[in-house]
Amino acid sequence: MRIAIGSDHAGFPLKAELVERLRQDGYEVDDLGTHSTESCDYPDTARPVAEGVSQGRYRLGILICGTGIGMSMAANKVPGVRAALCSETFSARMARAHNDANVLCMGARVIGPGLAYDVARAFLESEFEGGRHQRRVDKLTALERGDA
Ligand code: RB5
Repeated sequence: MRIAIGSDHAGFPLKAELVERLRQDGYEVDDLGTHSTESCDYPDTARPVAEGVSQGRYRLGILICGTGIGMSMAANKVPGVRAALCSETFSARMARAHNDANVLCMGARVIGPGLAYDVARAFLESEFEGGRHQRRVDKLTALERGDA
């Protein structure tokens, strides 16, 4: 599975660790930056990851900042993106299964690398269940489009 990953400076060390571990697991991971701990602005990396997912270049994306909050706010501004901020595996599984989330956001100052890896794996390995959840996701899309 091809995925995109991005972070700001606060998320950079955790991103680097996750990129390595997920590649070892066989995921094709495109690292869209940032590439150092030099201060930067989270929307600048949220944008290419979210647009890449929205435009179909990546099936799923992962975004990491200090809290994950800024990244989730930024990613959810991109039409077609359903970004979920998760700090434990149950929410990560449900975000895929019930909400068809396509971007996972995490806070590097909130969770450690071991849990972040488990959360990422839970997210990447779970599938959308469809059914009644599809109707709800369709209503999210209608909200986004401003449909009546
Ligand atoms: C950077 O200091 C921090 O504000 C950022 O990483 C993120 O937590 C914002 O939501």
